[in-house]
Amino acid sequence: MHDFDVLIIGSGAAGLSLALRLQHDFRIAVISKGPLDDGSTAWAQGGISAVIDNEDSIEQHMEDTMDAGAGLCDEAAVLHTVSHGKEMITWLQDLGVEFTYETGRDGKKYLHLTREGGHTHRRVVHSADATGWAIENALIKNTNQKDNIELFDHHIAIDLITTHKHLQRRANDKSNQCVGAYVLDTNDNQVKTFKAKHVILATGGASKVYLYTSNPDGASGDGIAMAWRAGCRVANMEFMQFHPTCLYHPTAKSYLITEAVRGEGGKLLLPNGSEFAHEFDPRGVLAPRDIVARAIDYKMKQVGVDCVYLDISHKPKKFIQDHFPNVYARCLKLGHDMSKEPVPVVPAAHYTCGGVMTDLQGQTDVDHLYAIGETTHTGLHGANRMASNSLLECLVFASSTSELINSKGIDNISSVDIPAWDASRVTEPDEEIVVAHNWDELRRFMWDYVGIVRTNKRLQRAKHRADLLSSEIDEYYSHFRVSSDLIELRNLTLVADLIIRSALSRKESRGLHYTLDFPDANASLENVDTVLDPRLDTTIAKPLYAS
Ligand code: FAD
Ligand code: SIN
Repeated sequence: MHDFDVLIIGSGAAGLSLALRLQHDFRIAVISKGPLDDGSTAWAQGGISAVIDNEDSIEQHMEDTMDAGAGLCDEAAVLHTVSHGKEMITWLQDLGVEFTYETGRDGKKYLHLTREGGHTHRRVVHSADATGWAIENALIKNTNQKDNIELFDHHIAIDLITTHKHLQRRANDKSNQCVGAYVLDTNDNQVKTFKAKHVILATGGASKVYLYTSNPDGASGDGIAMAWRAGCRVANMEFMQFHPTCLYHPTAKSYLITEAVRGEGGKLLLPNGSEFAHEFDPRGVLAPRDIVARAIDYKMKQVGVDCVYLDISHKPKKFIQDHFPNVYARCLKLGHDMSKEPVPVVPAAHYTCGGVMTDLQGQTDVDHLYAIGETTHTGLHGANRMASNSLLECLVFASSTSELINSKGIDNISSVDIPAWDASRVTEPDEEIVVAHNWDELRRFMWDYVGIVRTNKRLQRAKHRADLLSSEIDEYYSHFRVSSDLIELRNLTLVADLIIRSALSRKESRGLHYTLDFPDANASLENVDTVLDPRLDTTIAKPLYAS
C-alpha cells in the first residue's frame, strides 16, 4: 500500500506541470505506464499557441479557436485557456525550455512564431520541430529535483478506487469520492494500492483505437475508461481528430509531418502535381484540420490513390533543415528527401477532442477526482481542436487545477481504509492470442467503420462488433490475471463503444463528425454537446472482481 496526499496518473505535459505547481509540502506520486516520457507530449512537433505578436490579440485567438471548433466551443473555456498563453510560455522558459528564436530588424531576439491550420496569425511558439520533446525533458528534469514528488514509471493504473464502489457506505449515502487507484507495477507484475486524498487523471488520449495513428502506443484512453467506470460523465467522443499529413510508408509506423510544414509554405498535391485544397475551403492547406483531412480522404477515393503528396521542395534546403530538422531526417531515412521531392502523406488518427467532463479547474463528477490534458472535455476544442491548442490546454488546466487542490489542502480530508486488490479468484491467462487478436480486430473495424466519413450502417456494424468484444473481454478480465495489454484493451473497447454511441446519437455533420446520412450541420445542435452519463447507463462495464 502506498499512501500519498496526491496521486497523478500520467507524466505528460498535463501531469508533470500539475506536480510542479502543487504545494511543496504535499507528498505527490506521479505514475506513468511506461517510461516517464512515453506519452504524446514528447512527440509534439508544431508547438504551443500563444498570443505573443503585438498585432495579434486574445480575441483573435479565441475567434480562430471557436471557428475551428465548429459551433461547439465553450466560450468561457476558450477565454480561460487563450488568455493564459503568454504566461505559460514564460513559465516554460523559466523551467529551461529552449524555444526557437529569430532576430528582428532591430537586432534583438524574438520568439519565432510559426503558423498552422485555422490560425489567422503567426502564433505558434516552438522548439524547431520537436517542441514536445523540449517541454517533456524540462518537466522531467524539474520534477526530478523535487523531494516531495516521487515518480513511478512502468506502473499502469487499472481502476480508480471510489467510496461508492469499493467502500461500505450507509444505504442513503449517495456521495462518491475517489480515494486512490489500483495499479499494476509491471516491473514485478504485482497489483499495488495507491491511496491518495486527491487523484488526477492526466492520461492522454485514445487515438490508438484506430489502426493508423500518429500517437504513441499508450494512447489507449485509460483515463476516460477509468473515469467512466468511476461514475464520471464523458462528452463529445464522436470528435476524434485525424491529422491530414502522416507519412505514407508501407512498413514504417505512422509518422506525423507537422502542420507547420504547410504553415511555412508546403502544398498538398495529387499524384499528377495539381493542388486541390482550395476546392474545399478558401483557406486551402491552412483550413482547420477536419476540412483538410476530409478533402484528402475525398480526393484519395475520387482519384483512386493510396496517398497524396506534401511538397515544400520549392524552399531552400537550409530553410527546411533549420525549421524541420527531425522531420527532414526521418523522411530521408525512410527514402524521401523533402528538399528535393514531394513526400507521400495520408491522414491518421491524432487527437481525442472529447473526454472526461470537467469544469475550468479540472473537477470531475466524482469528489477529489480531477482530470486534465487530452483525457478531458473542457469545452475548449468543440467539434475540432485547432492546432497547437492542446499543449496550451494541458498547461493552463494544470495551473488552474493546482490552484483548486492547493486551496482545498489535505488536512480536512479524512483517511479511509481501502480493501487490497483481490486476485484470489483469477488464474494465469490460457490464451494470450485472444487479447492480441481482439486488439487488431477493434482497431481495424474502428478504422473501417468509424473513420473520417461515417454512415449509420457502418456505425451500427461497429456497435455490433464492439458489443461482442466487450462481453468477451469482460469475461476474460474476470477470470485471468491482469496484464498491460488486457488493461488497455478493456479500456479501448469501452472507449470505442463511447465513440460509436456518441457518433450514432449526433444526427448531423459537424466538425470532425461527418456522416453521409446527415451531411449538413443542424443549426439547432449548435452548442449542444453529446453527453454520456454512466449513472444512467445500463452498459456500464462490470465492476472489478476486486470490488
Ligand atoms: P500525454 O502526454 O499523452 O501523457 C499521458 C501520460 O499518461 C503518459 O505518461 C502515460 O504513461 C500515462 N498513462 C496513460 N494511461 C495510464 C495508466 N493507465 N496508468 C498510468 N499511466 C498512464 N499538441 C499541440 O498543442 N502542439 C503540437 O505541436 C502537437 N503535436 C503533436 C504531435 C504528435 C505526433 C502527437 C501524437 C500529438 C501532438 N499534439 C500536439 C497533441 C499533444 O501532444 C497532446 O495532446 C498532449 O501532449 C497530451 O498531453 P497529456 O499530458 O494530456 O498526455
Ligand atoms: C503538428 O505539428 O502538426 C501537430 C500540432 C497539433 O497537433 O497541435
